[in-house]
Amino acid sequence: MKKEVVLSGIRPTGFLHLGNYFGAMRNYVRMQDEFNCYFFVANWHSLTTHPDTKELQNSVHRVIAENIACGLDPAKVALYVQSDVPEIAELYLYLNMLAYKGELEKTTTFKEKVRLQPDNVNAGLLTYPVLMASDILIHRAVKVPVGKDQEQHLEMARNFAERFNYRYGNVFPAPQAFNFGNELIKIMSLDGNGKMSKSENQMNTLYLADDDDLIRKKIMKAKTDSGPAEKNSVKPDYIENIFTLLSLVSDPSTVKKFEDDFNNCIIRYGDLKKQLAEDMVKFIKPIREKAADIQNNKDLLKKIIHQGAEKARASASATLTEVRNAIGMNY
Ligand code: ADP
Ligand code: TRP
Repeated sequence: MKKEVVLSGIRPTGFLHLGNYFGAMRNYVRMQDEFNCYFFVANWHSLTTHPDTKELQNSVHRVIAENIACGLDPAKVALYVQSDVPEIAELYLYLNMLAYKGELEKTTTFKEKVRLQPDNVNAGLLTYPVLMASDILIHRAVKVPVGKDQEQHLEMARNFAERFNYRYGNVFPAPQAFNFGNELIKIMSLDGNGKMSKSENQMNTLYLADDDDLIRKKIMKAKTDSGPAEKNSVKPDYIENIFTLLSLVSDPSTVKKFEDDFNNCIIRYGDLKKQLAEDMVKFIKPIREKAADIQNNKDLLKKIIHQGAEKARASASATLTEVRNAIGMNY
């Protein structure tokens, strides 16, 4: 049986963090044996918000290195850089003719970015979801492992695919957001203010490149309170987040101990954070060290990126031929 196609991308706009790992990369790694996987660095997308390219090459290399350090095997998947696949840009052009200004302006991420960068509301920002749909549809992917914040973009990709199929004939399957749990995971920042993120609120985000002491320092500063006043209380979301992190990196008996302490109102948040800090150091350290090794080996990186581009272009050009045939642009 033919394997289902899986695709996802990460923007090279800063250091990867635990939200990226648990919301995205962990799933990539789990999927690589079972599916036909395409994972890429969305460097065109990063230009919509980060027009300065001084750091870009370094960031692209780091994202590739960190993905491999997290367990992605470039021999099993196509691991590539978006701008190495010009077929995506051509599909983006066709899909732009099927995307309406009104729906693009209503997109949550667009409105958010207009608020954040009112002086740079460029057309690329407006058509961001069209480029993302092109990334997905160019490989006719059906499963897209992403965090919760990307669900609206996936819905738009399905709309564009459907519109194309309706107008020109059936070329694209409908892509779906995918996560191994029932719910898409969202990792909040350590102060409880919004999500962990590549560029905002850096002292409250745990990065895969953070050294041991910095990890400890950030976790010990995480927001807590004086503890529950009644047995079996509902946890405030910043406490829930600490428990989420604990459940991701500590063993189940440790989690149970602190859950019980919380439910019995005898929890000591200082102890909880110390335990979390040590388990987090154990989790992040090997990833950080492996990523640094790969990143320093430029020849290896080049080889991996080149090999990924070849795999991605083979699939992309096959789709583009069908797209052109469907539109009738095959003279
Ligand atoms: P960031 O928001 O840090 O810039 P991206 O937008 O490039 O990261 O996201 C890359 C992937 O990581 C996406 O699939 C996104 O949904 C996921 N992701 C990012 N932040 C989080 C988070 N805090 N929790 C869960 N998933 C996240
Ligand atoms: N928009 C995604 C993000 O900010 C990154 C991305 C670009 C992507 N193209 C994609 C994710 C295609 C999945 C599929 O996280």
